[in-house]
Amino acid sequence: MEPRQVNIGILGFGVVGGGLYRLLLKNGEEIERRTRARIRVAKVADVEWQRERPTYPPAEIRTTDALAVIQDPRIDIVVETIGGVGVALDLVRAALAAGKSVVTSNKEMIAKHGAELFDLAAASGVDLFFEGAVGGAIPIIRALKESLEASHLDLVLGIVNGTTNYILTRMMEEGRPFEEVLAEAQRLGYAEADPTADVDGLDARNKLAILCAIAFGLRASVESIHTEGIRSITPTDIQYAQQMGYVIKLLALGRRHDGRVELRVHPALVPRNHPLASVRGSFNAVFVHGDGCGDVMLYGRGAGDLPTGAAVAGDVIEAARNIINNCRGRVLCTCMADADVLPNEEVVTSTYLRLRVADRPGVLGKIATAFGEAGVSLASVIQLDTDHHTAEIVMVTHACPEGHLDTALASIEALDVVKALASRIRVMEQPAD
Ligand code: HSE
Repeated sequence: MEPRQVNIGILGFGVVGGGLYRLLLKNGEEIERRTRARIRVAKVADVEWQRERPTYPPAEIRTTDALAVIQDPRIDIVVETIGGVGVALDLVRAALAAGKSVVTSNKEMIAKHGAELFDLAAASGVDLFFEGAVGGAIPIIRALKESLEASHLDLVLGIVNGTTNYILTRMMEEGRPFEEVLAEAQRLGYAEADPTADVDGLDARNKLAILCAIAFGLRASVESIHTEGIRSITPTDIQYAQQMGYVIKLLALGRRHDGRVELRVHPALVPRNHPLASVRGSFNAVFVHGDGCGDVMLYGRGAGDLPTGAAVAGDVIEAARNIINNCRGRVLCTCMADADVLPNEEVVTSTYLRLRVADRPGVLGKIATAFGEAGVSLASVIQLDTDHHTAEIVMVTHACPEGHLDTALASIEALDVVKALASRIRVMEQPAD
C-alpha cells in the first residue's frame, strides 16, 4: 500500500509545538514505514517568529494567521498547543466546526470545555484527541479510554504535576524550605515565573477533572474539586513524615463511592512502600485500580518538549490512521453523567497534625478529650519540647470523616493552652499487598 499524505497545521510553536515538530522531523520516515501515513507539517502558526527556538520551521510554512491554517482546505488535522481557554478555545471550536480532526495538549480547555468540544467533534464526525493534556509522555488517556475499558475503575491516584513533585523532592532530599527551592526551580526553568497554577494545585485539578471524566465517565467542574497546593509544606513536616515512614507528595485523587465520587488535590503523606512514593523529581505517575485490571501504574516524564511532543505526535498518528481508514470520530466522549462530588466533610481520611501548645500538665488530656468528643480516634502521638514553655505535638488520626476532625480542631484551637495548629496534612492508607 502506498503511503498517503496527511497534512497537519500546528497552532502555537512553544515548548510542546516545537517538540512535536522536532520529533516528526526526526522520526517521520520511521512513522511512515510503520503507519503508511506520510505526516507533513503544512503550516505552523504563532503570534511572532522573532523569538529564538531550538528548531525553526522553514519560512514558507510559518504564519501568524492561525485562522488561515484552519481554513486551509489542504490541512486534515489541526494541532493546538497554545494553551489556556482564550484564543485556543475559539480556534479549536472553529477547527472542529470546519470538519478538521483536532489534537490538543490543552488540559485547561479539555477540563473546562471538553463536553462542548466533544459534541462539536461528534457533530462533525472528526477526532478530538488530548493525550498530551495529562502526564506528558505517559499514555494515560488512551490506556483509560481503550486498554482498561473493560474494567470498572474505582480509584485514580496520580502525581500529575512535575513542578511540585520536583520542589517536594528537593525539599525532602536537601532539607530546604519551599520558597528557597521554588526560587531555584524558577532560575533553572523547572518552575514558571508565575508558579501559581502549579504550586497551588490548579494544574493538577484540571488534570484530575479530565481523569475523572475518562476513568469514571463522570463530568466534574473544576470548582467542585477540593484543591490545596504545597506552599504550606515545611521541612519540619517532611522530616516528621520521614521519621514515621512517609514521603510528602501532591496527590490528585479520584475515588468512586456508591453513586458519588471523591475528588481532591492536596499534599499527602504517602507510605514509603507505596509505588507513588518512589516517583522523584519532575516525573509523573498515575495509579489506577479496577475490578478486572487490579492495580496498574504508569510512570514517565510529565512535561517538556519531547515527552509532551511525543504524546501529541501519537495522537496525530492515530488521527491520521483514522483519516486513511475512513473511520474518523470512532472514539467518542466517555462521559455518561455529571459527577456527584462527595462534600469534603464526608471524605474519610487519616490526618497528620502538628500542634504548638503550652508545656503544662493536663494539656494533652484536654486535646485528647476534644478529639474523643468529636469521634476522632488517634493512631499515634509524639510530644517534643521546643523550649521551656512550648511543646510540639505531632499526631496521626485514624481514618475519620473530615467533618469530625474539623469539629475537633475548632475546639482544640479555642483552648488557651493551644498556641497554633501548625500543620494538617492528609495521610494515605497503606497499599494492599
Ligand atoms: N506545569 C506542568 C507540570 C506541566 O509542572 O507538571 C504541564 O502540564
